[in-house]
Amino acid sequence: MPAADGGAPAATESSGRQMRFTRRTTTALATAAALGTILAGCATGAGSSAPAVRSHDDVTVYTWWAEGVEQQGLNALATAFEEQNPGIEFVDDGITGGGGSAAKEHLQTRLETQDPPDSFLAHAGAELQDYIDGKYIQDLSPLYQELGLTNAFPEDLIERLSTDGKIYSVPSNIHRANVMWVNPAVLQQHGLDPSGEYADLDGFIADLETLKAAGVSAPLSVGTTWAQVHLLETVLLADLGPAAYNGLWSGETDWSGPEVTTALEHYRTLLSYSNPDRDDIDWQPATEKVIAGESAFNVMGDWALTAFESQGKKLGTDFLAVPSPGTSGEFDFLADSFTMSTGILDEESAKAWLKTIGSKEGQVRFNKIKGSIPAREDVDAGQFTPYQQMAIKSFRQDTIVSSLAHGAAVPVSHLDQITAATAAFSRDLDVAAFQSALVAAAAG
Ligand code: GAL
Repeated sequence: MPAADGGAPAATESSGRQMRFTRRTTTALATAAALGTILAGCATGAGSSAPAVRSHDDVTVYTWWAEGVEQQGLNALATAFEEQNPGIEFVDDGITGGGGSAAKEHLQTRLETQDPPDSFLAHAGAELQDYIDGKYIQDLSPLYQELGLTNAFPEDLIERLSTDGKIYSVPSNIHRANVMWVNPAVLQQHGLDPSGEYADLDGFIADLETLKAAGVSAPLSVGTTWAQVHLLETVLLADLGPAAYNGLWSGETDWSGPEVTTALEHYRTLLSYSNPDRDDIDWQPATEKVIAGESAFNVMGDWALTAFESQGKKLGTDFLAVPSPGTSGEFDFLADSFTMSTGILDEESAKAWLKTIGSKEGQVRFNKIKGSIPAREDVDAGQFTPYQQMAIKSFRQDTIVSSLAHGAAVPVSHLDQITAATAAFSRDLDVAAFQSALVAAAAG
């Protein structure tokens, strides 16, 4: 199938093999307005809103994993899929842009114009609700029965995946969001405790101040808006604790309360130690700043692991991965999960894809690259990296909370409002206006 936008350059799998999957990948800058142009330019499309021609012998899969380790992880899944299903071609039908905020906007337009990919990446949890309400995705409970998936995943994951007793996606992994990536050499150089662990935000801020006073201009690296929402959620978790943090999503915690004000003030202080280009860079360049020693810290999910390891950096010496300040004993959870769209030509191919996602082999091959841990419980932990073994242990024993930035805590529409408020705050740093916008977002 020809590429919709001229395609992306060839990429390599982790093995270094040339990527051979067909790509229709567009960029995150493709807005709803630009979509018509893209479709018009598609060799298979007949008009500005005509869906691409579908074929029985391929499966089109939409993600935002189009670069670096994320693309390598997707390629590993695609390879496993094509090995298990020699007659079906994997078509990478995604978009670039970390965190998926632009991708979700673009996807929404495709769903509304009846141009769904066969399967798309979403997050387990509240994010699925809008897709369920819009009838864009199918109930996969019968597939769970058929493949025995209900017993393969942990019970509380099944709970987070279920809506009114039905399950609408198959998780490929579990990621931890409250991880702080630390360059211990920068801390040592300035006489600070090189463990990078902080019981609370005040201790963390004191060290940021020491670093800044010593000439490290941006000791905390921060990426674009979705990465800022990600940082914000870890600050809310630290200041409110898990119960009140959960209450933000259930309606039991008052967004206008003083604890939230304190968290937002802490968040503003953290931004004052960050890089001035924060609004313009995705997560990878922000991670690079820590790898290069330009910044000492970055808060990011554990997909960042492979970014360090692929550059030969060793956990424990060259870099550290610790709970973000004030969140020790808590596991801020998200799971990448694949759906089956409604109105697709060939459900059998889509089910075959979901079977690979849920299979032991698919989960092992994918997670070895992605830095996350398998969602399946029956996978031997010994074959993963020390970081991942730590994450597996922590997922079993820590208090689990749902990630805001990555779709576990709130539906897309609510997250969109929080994202807009966070973007505005990065410019005006007005805590009162930010809090009012967050109160309004929670009110719907
Ligand atoms: C998350 C997703 C991760 C990773 C990250 C950065 O939303 O769950 O798998 O892709 O975005 O792009």
